[in-house]
Amino acid sequence: MNLDLKNRKIILGVTGSIAAYKAPELARLLIKSGADVQAVITEAACNFVTPLTLETLTGHKVVYKMFNSTTDPLEHINLAKNADLLLIAPASADFIARAAAGRASDLLSAITLAYAGTVAFAPAMNTNMLNNRATQKNIKILTDEYGWNIIEPASGELACGITDKGRMESPETIVQSVTNFFNRDLEGHKIVITAGPTVEDIDPVRFISNRSSGKTGYAIARNAALRGARVVLISGPTALIPPENITVINVRSALEMRQAVLEESDDAHLVVMSAAVADFRHETIETKKIKKETQNDSLEIKLVKNPDILLEIGEKYKKSKSPVIFGFALETDNLLTNGKAKLEKKLADMIIANSAKDALEKETTKVIFIHKDGRVNETDEIPKQSLAKLILDEYLSINPLSV
Ligand code: CTP
Repeated sequence: MNLDLKNRKIILGVTGSIAAYKAPELARLLIKSGADVQAVITEAACNFVTPLTLETLTGHKVVYKMFNSTTDPLEHINLAKNADLLLIAPASADFIARAAAGRASDLLSAITLAYAGTVAFAPAMNTNMLNNRATQKNIKILTDEYGWNIIEPASGELACGITDKGRMESPETIVQSVTNFFNRDLEGHKIVITAGPTVEDIDPVRFISNRSSGKTGYAIARNAALRGARVVLISGPTALIPPENITVINVRSALEMRQAVLEESDDAHLVVMSAAVADFRHETIETKKIKKETQNDSLEIKLVKNPDILLEIGEKYKKSKSPVIFGFALETDNLLTNGKAKLEKKLADMIIANSAKDALEKETTKVIFIHKDGRVNETDEIPKQSLAKLILDEYLSINPLSV
């Protein structure tokens, strides 16, 4: 029997979606994998599944009332303190909205607010509810701002009769995802990741930059941290909140990013250059605002080339096995040819090539992995979180014994 979840304490939060009928099966499979499961259900969920069913399966009293005189008044704090994972499955649209807003209006949302560890939501709802901008915005808050995980809903027949996306993932797949959360296969590895754009100042109020959101780099940082790596995230200015338990070095310009990368790479096992480094900077940053009265009808600014950080570390470490170096190639045309050229020129171990239209400012992306040994694999269009996992899996397949 596979006991991947042995000694793991999991709070299974069940909310008011018809998919709550699958929660007992999910609890059973988690327990079968060795987990100790404490179910907490919302009052809405009691319409779909009884506390007694979950109590019988888990062997623990199921709690659902915030102000129940027979229970511990600090129940939400104590439950939140002792768990390794808070898994909300199914997560209804309403519960996701409450969690995104930081509400504590019932026991499960109070536990969610009080919990500091890994949180995962398995949404289940009607497709229109899922696609609604409010729900999408709330899911984005959970992932991008709070660093929580979404186990993407599947496509299939929904309770409303249509076949579309919105069905809670199967209990088997959820257990697999949960097992992955506890997979510490990057423990002992130091991973340096650059992310976001660089900003090249022209004068105190103007700058040159690009449209990189930083999402891919932050997703790699999050996945690496979850898998036990020591992560250093060197980030240009972004609107994202970095995951916990990592070192963040905030930089602005390409020169600052270069400095940080060089300082952090010597003892790194992997460097992932996902930042969109500006290729040019203003020759001299004006100390005073450039006034239009002092110019004629046009303004000429002189840009000079920035150092190519990837090329520099590629050359620096070309004779040593460590760190493994991954670069990106962002292209508008000839993705494969340009990606291969960058791999060769910059001496990287792998280039992840993506096209600007597939990647910029989006939640999903589609890439080609171009390896030094000549292998080329193309992904489907996948969420950036899934890409992050694939990139780190590729690294482990190249460098499993580096630590
Ligand atoms: N890169 C870098 N330093 C630079 C420019 C790019 O380290 N000054 C890295 C990026 O982080 C990325 C890879 O090089 O990993 C390729 O970046 P990309 O913008 O696709 O290509 P460039 O080398 O800038 O070439 P071009 O803009 O001509 O396509």
